[in-house]
Amino acid sequence: MHTIVLATQKGGSGKSTLAIGLALAARQAGFSVRLIETDPQGTLSNWQRRRDTDEPVVEPIYYAADFEPRLKMLADSGLQIAIVDTAAGLSAVTTAAIRYSDLCLIPTRPTVADIEATASTLSVARAWKRPYSFVLNQTPIRGQRIDNATHTLAEEAALDLADVLARPLIVMRNDHQDALANGLAVSEYAPNGKSAAEIRGLWRWIENRLELEATTNVLIDQVMSAADGVLLAAAEHELDETTTPAS
Ligand SMILES: Nc1ncnc2c1ncn2[C@@H]1O[C@H](COP(=O)(O)OP(=O)(O)OP(=O)(O)O)[C@@H](O)[C@H]1O
Ligand SMILES: [Mg+2]
Repeated sequence: MHTIVLATQKGGSGKSTLAIGLALAARQAGFSVRLIETDPQGTLSNWQRRRDTDEPVVEPIYYAADFEPRLKMLADSGLQIAIVDTAAGLSAVTTAAIRYSDLCLIPTRPTVADIEATASTLSVARAWKRPYSFVLNQTPIRGQRIDNATHTLAEEAALDLADVLARPLIVMRNDHQDALANGLAVSEYAPNGKSAAEIRGLWRWIENRLELEATTNVLIDQVMSAADGVLLAAAEHELDETTTPAS
């Protein structure tokens, strides 16, 4: 199982919106997914109540001590992806979520105040030696503001930005807000829209970052070799029947 956590100090940066968007993009890519809600504000549970379907399941975990055992149970049950939405600020449960994550996504709007507010989340991810990436969200379509933001993030991370800035950037568009209001993810609300395409692209970037493709390919190899075995057995059986004289 891979656990992806969305966390940042700053409220309204898009943690819940991205958690929902990515959960549906991962489902559409064929993964089993559960949304974990650690934010008592209940954005995900409220969204789930507006849906016509129970999928993806939204599971609340509000206490830090519950986090690791519950995650282990989910992993043992065969779940492939857990996506964790956290509250703004840095609570004990958020710290636990980051500690047990396979990837900590830090969404930020392209403003100085928002980028500065990522520092505390970044330091927790680094302290627990967890992989992290920034997601620039609610950006204008293009412009100087984006260039400045990416430059500042590169300095903050002191790393090659190609590794730590998730792609594509997620542009500010009404589709995200309208989807959530209707109990949908953006890929369900406007599947052919640009926002849905960006979120699908972001999921693919995450797959690569986590090397999920490799896991999927291993599974495909296993299925193919099992299928080969069955075909071989069937061919041998057929050969037996044609070559063994009837008694
Ligand atoms: N790319 C986007 N384009 C337009 N609106 C967006 C985008 N991302 C998020 N929003 C909107 O911004 C607001 C805040 O987003 P969201 O609730 O996901 O942030 P959050 O980080 O989870 O907030 P909180 O810290 O309160 O939990 C919501 O109204 C949401 O619809
Ligand atoms: Mg939220």
